Amino acid sequence: MRKDTEKVYQKRIVQYKAEVKAKDKLLSSIHRISSLLTRPISLEKVLTAITEETAIVFGFTRVDISLVNEKDPNLLECKYVMGFSPEERERALGSPFRVDKHDCVETRTVKTGKVIYLKDYETDERLTKIDLKLAKIYSRVSGIAAPLKIKRNVIGFIGGDITSKKLALTRNEIKLFSTFANQASIIIENALLHEQNKQKIEQLLSLQEINKKTSSAMSLKKLFHVISANALRITKASSCMLLLAESDSKFLRIVSQRGYSDTDIKKFRLKIGEGIVGWVAENGISLLAKDVSEDPRYIEVKKNVKSELAVPLLSEKKVLGVLNVDSCEKDAFNNDDLELLMIFAGHTATLIENVRLYEQVITEKNFAENILESSPNGVVTVDCGRSISSVNRKAEEILCLKRDEIIGKRVSDVFEKNISEIIDSALNNRKAIENRETERMGKNGSVVTLGISSSFLKSHDKNVAGIIITIQDLTEIKKTEELISRMDRLSSLGQLSAGIAHEVRNPLASINFNVQMLSKKLDMDDKIRSIVSDTIEGIDRLKKLVKGMLDFTKPGIPSLKRGVINDVVRDSIALIDAQIKKRNIYLETKLGKDLPEIVFDPVQMQQVFVNLLLNAVEAVHEGGTINVKSTMGNNSNGNEKQLLVYIADNGPGISPENLSKVFDPFFTTKPEGTGLGLSITCKILEQHNAFIDVLSKENRGATFVLRFPVNSVVEKAGYVSI
Ligand SMILES: Nc1ncnc2c1ncn2[C@@H]1O[C@H](COP(=O)(O)OP(=O)(O)O)[C@@H](O)[C@H]1O
Ligand SMILES: [Mg+2]
Repeated sequence: MRKDTEKVYQKRIVQYKAEVKAKDKLLSSIHRISSLLTRPISLEKVLTAITEETAIVFGFTRVDISLVNEKDPNLLECKYVMGFSPEERERALGSPFRVDKHDCVETRTVKTGKVIYLKDYETDERLTKIDLKLAKIYSRVSGIAAPLKIKRNVIGFIGGDITSKKLALTRNEIKLFSTFANQASIIIENALLHEQNKQKIEQLLSLQEINKKTSSAMSLKKLFHVISANALRITKASSCMLLLAESDSKFLRIVSQRGYSDTDIKKFRLKIGEGIVGWVAENGISLLAKDVSEDPRYIEVKKNVKSELAVPLLSEKKVLGVLNVDSCEKDAFNNDDLELLMIFAGHTATLIENVRLYEQVITEKNFAENILESSPNGVVTVDCGRSISSVNRKAEEILCLKRDEIIGKRVSDVFEKNISEIIDSALNNRKAIENRETERMGKNGSVVTLGISSSFLKSHDKNVAGIIITIQDLTEIKKTEELISRMDRLSSLGQLSAGIAHEVRNPLASINFNVQMLSKKLDMDDKIRSIVSDTIEGIDRLKKLVKGMLDFTKPGIPSLKRGVINDVVRDSIALIDAQIKKRNIYLETKLGKDLPEIVFDPVQMQQVFVNLLLNAVEAVHEGGTINVKSTMGNNSNGNEKQLLVYIADNGPGISPENLSKVFDPFFTTKPEGTGLGLSITCKILEQHNAFIDVLSKENRGATFVLRFPVNSVVEKAGYVSI
């Protein structure tokens, strides 16, 4: 009896020991998988660890884990298998169960939330047709499945068996398996949450990244590209398009897309109000179409789109456009995606507005710069610190300075005192300058007359930020003004002198006759003879003057012929050759070859050259030099060809105060001069539509420049032609 009891005890001890061992095994196994809880680990790894531990603790050769689909609770999908042959594995992972349709151990475990242990497939009456079919496929002879539960909610099951071998599990072991499954559920749930978090974090990170990327200045085109790429990324959609409202606000136009082929969107232009996207644009409300086939608004743009998510881009209640993502799967987007895309769209709308504004500012800036560049006036801006901040092309030309060399430099370091003083006083007195005239040395030493005006440059807060200086080159205008006033003087003086000449001519003729007669008288003493001869000399001078006056007033209508100007120049030189030789003057000619023929009156033109050459001869000292040059050139605007003749001497030159007077009739500095030579010259040239100019500096000679038009401008002027 005692022995029997002892045996029973011993048996129990063995049994307990075994149980303790099993529990120990289970506990350490649970401990191992629970340690996964503390670490963020992927679902894949968690499932691997659980199946491995299950196999170790319960001695299964095959373990599988299936989970209920999050979006469709009717769908039970196998997520992980262990110990399956490749074919078995492929089949298991690829054939989900429908909980309402398929009646089998797997779906029953999920439905009932209870462990199902099928010890023997041959005898068990609970087996359905599907169970038997599966048993055949997987060579299953027995098996166990425990539900994976989170707070009474079944999220899937874990199953185990031994290929072609019956299981022999004790009640305790079945209970342990259930406990193990519960623990595994928590870990799986945790991993699922972790997976979701990871996705959210990833989305947030990409939002942040977009923020970073797009806050730097970029073109609209690039921005659109970044937006669609990232919309796709954060929603994991298969295609995406960004549409913006056209300026008439009636249509939407695709500005960027991903995942569409050219044929999809070839002629795509969406009317606001049409389609899901058009509806979103019209109403300014986001829309999540889980199944587009059920939405009457849906218009097919791309084949196989099953679900779509569209959010408006709003800026101050105005709909700028729509950001649209879609997927080839039904129900691909959830509310989280919607929320995220809305946050993204909000940010995007502001960015698009900003970049648009920026581009508009740039366009306006370019426009202003273009106007400034093509301005006929020179424009220079100077900041309050007296540094040059901008220079336009005309200013470069007038000032003969390169902008790269002067921008950033101080006004006083670039300009002469007279100009920098004008700028200084305008800035100091905060008073604009109007048409102040000043002079400056030009490139070739010629004096350039500048007209300077200024206005203030205001900053956005209306403070004076600097000064805008407008510069005009008045040199040509001055010359023209001078010419006009010269002509004026000439014509009034001409009329006066014509009258005088007429009045003087007749009495002078009789005086001349009388004196001539008187001189023939033989009985004059020497004293009287000398008086008479002085009188004759005086009369000669008066005759010359009267002739000059008449020549000047009536040089006669030119008889124009086409000819070579060099020939006239040579003839004129020949006429004064004797005087040149007598005074030992060196005359150098550089007459241009192949000069075009021009239209002129040869007699009058000879008068012009003789006048100028004589003046030069009279100006130079003994042994002086005269240079005569003819060449082709441009007018001062550079838009017309001209034939130029220079007559230069190295005489005393003309003083600045006389420079403007030399063309006036009767202006002379010579005791014997008539002061009519240059005024006649001027008049003749005027009739030929040609110009004369003088450049001179005291003690450095004088240069007269004659400019003849080469195109028949003379004919246009209304004179007789050839
Ligand atoms: N080549 C020259 N060099 C210096 N002065 C000149 C020259 N040509 C003309 N002039 C000045 O212009 C004045 C007017 O010349 P012009 O009309 O020919 O009259 P005139 O020779 O009779 O004085 C001259 O008196 C002289 O002062
Ligand atoms: Mg003269």
